[in-house]
Amino acid sequence: MGDDRVVEPLIFEISRPGRCAVPLPDLDVPEADLPEGLVREDLPLPEVSEQDLIRHYTHLSQLNYGVDVGFYPLGSCTMKYNPKINEEMCRLPGFVHLHPYQDEETVQGALFLMYYLQEFLKEIGGFAGVSLQPAAGAHGELAGVLMMRAYQIDRGEAHRDVILVPDSAHGTNPASTTMSGMRVIEVPSDDRGNVDLAALKAACEEHSDHLVGMMLTNPNTLGLFDEHLEEISGLVHEHGGLMYGDGANMNALLGIARPGDLGFDVLHYNLHKTFSTPHGGGGPGSGPVAASERLADFLPGPIVAVDPDRSDEDAPFFTLVMPPKSIGRVKAFYGHFGVMVRAYTYIRMLGPEGLRRVAEYAVLNANYLMHRIKGMYRVPYDRTCMHEFVCEGRIPDAPDVRALDISKRLIDYGFHPPTNYFPLIVREALMIEPTETESKETLDAFADALLKIAEEARTNPDLLHEAPHNAPVRRLDEVRAAKELILRWEG
Ligand SMILES: Cc1ncc(COP(=O)(O)O)c(C=O)c1O
Repeated sequence: MGDDRVVEPLIFEISRPGRCAVPLPDLDVPEADLPEGLVREDLPLPEVSEQDLIRHYTHLSQLNYGVDVGFYPLGSCTMKYNPKINEEMCRLPGFVHLHPYQDEETVQGALFLMYYLQEFLKEIGGFAGVSLQPAAGAHGELAGVLMMRAYQIDRGEAHRDVILVPDSAHGTNPASTTMSGMRVIEVPSDDRGNVDLAALKAACEEHSDHLVGMMLTNPNTLGLFDEHLEEISGLVHEHGGLMYGDGANMNALLGIARPGDLGFDVLHYNLHKTFSTPHGGGGPGSGPVAASERLADFLPGPIVAVDPDRSDEDAPFFTLVMPPKSIGRVKAFYGHFGVMVRAYTYIRMLGPEGLRRVAEYAVLNANYLMHRIKGMYRVPYDRTCMHEFVCEGRIPDAPDVRALDISKRLIDYGFHPPTNYFPLIVREALMIEPTETESKETLDAFADALLKIAEEARTNPDLLHEAPHNAPVRRLDEVRAAKELILRWEG
């Protein structure tokens, strides 16, 4: 086995003829041969004892790194601790055994939960309506830009097809716009990490007749709150455009600022980031989309509403409705219900005060960490950050050391690396998001490791170039690993 492979015997390698992990019951039907071709001789089943089986899978699980194992400062991903009560609630039999084809009368509890989750998200963001349909943040973005386009068509402006996207936006913003069939025009940032107002003004003027709107990630991918939001939304609205807010970073704003009050017309949430639902491996997530009065009629549906004709004073009856000018369904049935139960539980457990504390601690933790390391790691946009910050993964006096080497060495210290090489406007970017759930001891241990690594970079750079040294997998050729996945065991 090569240097770069997991040194864990595969289940086929520990297999021995005749071993079995389960006591099979005596045969109580006549013995029969399986139809020809059903069993392939070249696909033998592994034969292992119960103990072998348990050890094998337990070892494999120990090779995995997650938030329940240690610090996971992956910028832009908000890898906060997910309270286990969320899991308990979404596994309640009454939720687990629901079927999407059940009549409304029989699922009033589930509709109650969805209705109040919509109401909480309306209140948290300052919006008039919410749809829980989209299955992820990027899916919410796609729904949002389609709503903006539908609004422009509805008012007789079907020729409008331009969306402005700053260079500090999350990568999914230009991707969603392009998928929706509209044109992306990039707007540069200024030297404080804000949208460059002069460039925005020029872009608005140039594309005035074609402007659908602007997509703004706020806080942006530098972890910075734009200092000119009012001017930005004023300019875009003046030219007939709408403001889309990428609300994936709402854990920096909860209980403090509401995008709906700041000029945004539509926004998506990432329930799997802000509201503590798991989001490893790409899903399942949930990206509800929220809209102002102006856009609420265009929301994807169905959404949950109270039916006044079937309600009485203390017993509202919940029903599914389609907003009058809806862009339609964007997801089968009603979205990812299990994720909604977790987010609802999180919001109810914390309450308004707790949610505000989430934002306060997220911002405090990021600023504390930034101040601990910025003497050694340059922070190019050096001002108070929100829930994350971006520094350069370059060490003075160690010219050959790159962000990737630093990240790989962090693995040796037991930490998950930060996001690398994103955003693109920072050289050798390390994007660090500690989240609100980490203690000062953890933040200090991480800062100490980064400072120690900076020292190693100067004195023994090869230690970094060859890292990780004590992880189950050594340094991989990541591009090759992603393109040539080995998914089959070959004996
Ligand atoms: C700022 C921002 N926008 C959009 C997204 C996309 O969300 P998703 O990965 O759920 O599609 C993310 C994901 O982390 C994000 O951080």
